[in-house]
Amino acid sequence: MATAVSNSLPTWDALLTAAHAWQFCPGELRAATVRDRWLSRLSRDERARYRQLPTEKMREGYLAGRVLCRATLSRYTAVDPSRWRFGEDVYGKPTVVAPDDFKSIRFNLTHTGDLTICIVTRAGEVGVDAEETSQTVDVSTVARHFFSRTAQARLARLPSRERAARFFEQWVLKEACVKALGKGLAYAPERLTVEQDDRGEPAANGRFQFSLYRPSSNHVAAAAVLRRHRVAQVSIYWWTVSAESFEAIVEAQRDTKRTDSVRRS
Ligand SMILES: CC(C)(COP(=O)(O)OP(=O)(O)OC[C@H]1O[C@@H](n2cnc3c(N)ncnc32)[C@H](O)[C@@H]1OP(=O)(O)O)[C@@H](O)C(=O)NCCC(=O)NCCS
Repeated sequence: MATAVSNSLPTWDALLTAAHAWQFCPGELRAATVRDRWLSRLSRDERARYRQLPTEKMREGYLAGRVLCRATLSRYTAVDPSRWRFGEDVYGKPTVVAPDDFKSIRFNLTHTGDLTICIVTRAGEVGVDAEETSQTVDVSTVARHFFSRTAQARLARLPSRERAARFFEQWVLKEACVKALGKGLAYAPERLTVEQDDRGEPAANGRFQFSLYRPSSNHVAAAAVLRRHRVAQVSIYWWTVSAESFEAIVEAQRDTKRTDSVRRS
């Protein structure tokens, strides 16, 4: 399973052959000053959606997704986090629609309770998914609905102590794949099986590349990248990020603007 360490710098150019997954804890935005500062950087529509959500937990999760997404995209560009504009493709997958220069970037988000992950790349279409592994699931019933017969048979052959773990790994891998394709519920997930070796490492499948990662002892996450034709290989990296580093990104954009205006004057 992948580790969080990366020697690939988070630069715009690195994204041509790499996908970077940034993991964040939504609770970091709970302090009113931090929350309000970031709310003011959302679009009017996003703020309206935030206010309409019925529970504090849902609002916190939604805000974390918007903030992580904006800060992550700004990490690679000289764009202030508040300037990103998003749209949706035909099946609802979020995309960047402005600024124009950065529309080639692809990103995807996943939320589970106390964890939000945003993945970005320019190497192809990308999807990410995470699940809490402590939840109780009737593995064979769910697998019957969503897994191919081959995958069901493989699960059934595993010792029972390994079955739930492998089920969640397969689930997040398939879900990441579906999210990379962007088709959501329109895609029949039983059509897809991601091969894993004895250690659980997922194998590439055609232009699809995968990475499995354990954000905590209670979570499993997967990333899937559907490589563009001209990209031979994609490296997938995982990082943990804090709200403090988001402020550093905003500051860095301010410094760039200050330097620009000094140069112009
Ligand atoms: C959105 C979907 C793709 C995933 O939802 P989910 O697993 O409940 O939720 P996640 O937290 O992982 O992802 C939600 C995020 O995905 C993104 N998303 C929305 N629609 C998407 C789509 N069509 N494709 C990719 N990503 C999408 C959004 O950013 C969303 O977060 P936001 O609303 O805060 O912006 C949903 O259509 C779905 O549940 N599909 C299920 C497909 C399936 O059958 N899976 C079985 C796998 S074995």
